[in-house]
Amino acid sequence: VSLRPYNTFGLDVQARYFARFASADELRQLLRQPEVQGREILILGGGSNLLFTQDFNGVVLKNEIRGLEIISEDAEANTALLRAGAGESWHGLVEYALDQHLSGIENLSLIPGTVGAAPLQNIGAYGAELRDTFEHLEAVSLATGDFRVFTADECGFGYRESVFKNILKNQFVVTAVALRLHRQARPNVRYGAISETLAELGITGEPTPQDVSRAVVHIRRSKLPDPAQVGNAGSFFKNPEVPQAQFDQLKSNYPDLPGYPVPGGVKVPAAWLIERAGWKGLRRGPGAGTHGVHDRQALVLVHHGGASGNDLRQLAEEIISSVRQQFGIELHPEVNIL
Ligand code: EPU
Repeated sequence: VSLRPYNTFGLDVQARYFARFASADELRQLLRQPEVQGREILILGGGSNLLFTQDFNGVVLKNEIRGLEIISEDAEANTALLRAGAGESWHGLVEYALDQHLSGIENLSLIPGTVGAAPLQNIGAYGAELRDTFEHLEAVSLATGDFRVFTADECGFGYRESVFKNILKNQFVVTAVALRLHRQARPNVRYGAISETLAELGITGEPTPQDVSRAVVHIRRSKLPDPAQVGNAGSFFKNPEVPQAQFDQLKSNYPDLPGYPVPGGVKVPAAWLIERAGWKGLRRGPGAGTHGVHDRQALVLVHHGGASGNDLRQLAEEIISSVRQQFGIELHPEVNIL
């Protein structure tokens, strides 16, 4: 089976076995099939954070568990608990919440991918992260088929991190996610670009969650390539954190280096480092180029068509070593490379 329709880089690799499941029970049945026993398993959501560098010689299981519902209201705290099937589109969930007059995830509008993938890397954008509203998730153990609930603490969320990316990697399949959302609008416009964009869109006064969502959609469309048009997986690298002393040293050489304080140091935009190292807008390969670095956001690697996953990985490695040489900073991929 070609995985080309199932990864947003649009890479044409093959999977040995491929199946879909629409419920936790269907998943359990699949896990008992002889073809699945003892083989490597890849659970696929939207395929928006994956770089395939070779054919996948195992079993790809596509999560298509649907369902969006408000499961309880807390009148005192003025919140509601919203539960979503892991196979729902993330942005579909954001729109559902807005329709239900629930606020808390509007800053995460238009993030590609599915609900089930969101906790794996604690998706974040424009001043919000999944963990800010996350209540719990439901999962099935790949080894035993057993059902398990994980609270926020048990998920070990960090910046683009969770236990499901490290100690519990490839051990659980997320089947549903529950979020605690607010009945009363709580616009979060801490991120400078949001207030600028609201002004640009002619929205004055206290913005509604819909207004914030519109602003975020506007920003994302202006900077990030649409995977339907050009292959990409959003930010390819994480933003690195450096100790304060190293930041001060760099700042004396590069006075316009941006930095955001974090516990234990300073977070530096990888896009700035990559742009300064001269990569922004690069195109490689025959003709007008098959792959390269997005011309409006240097953190995004793009596949124009005709490149392989290894071409993209090679480019990523060259970017990492040039940033290391010029700035002494180690970049780490955010995308899952297979
Ligand atoms: N910048 C450049 N050159 C560029 C782009 C950005 O120098 O080409 C610098 C600028 O100084 C800019 C700063 O980087 O002010 C931050 O840029 P931006 O707001 O675009 O955010 P980012 O750090 O590049 C992160 C997330 C995005 C998220 C945005 C908005 C990571 C790895 N990426 O990008 O998440 O949408 O912030 O909050 O943390 C994703 O994970 O796939 C993703 C798109």
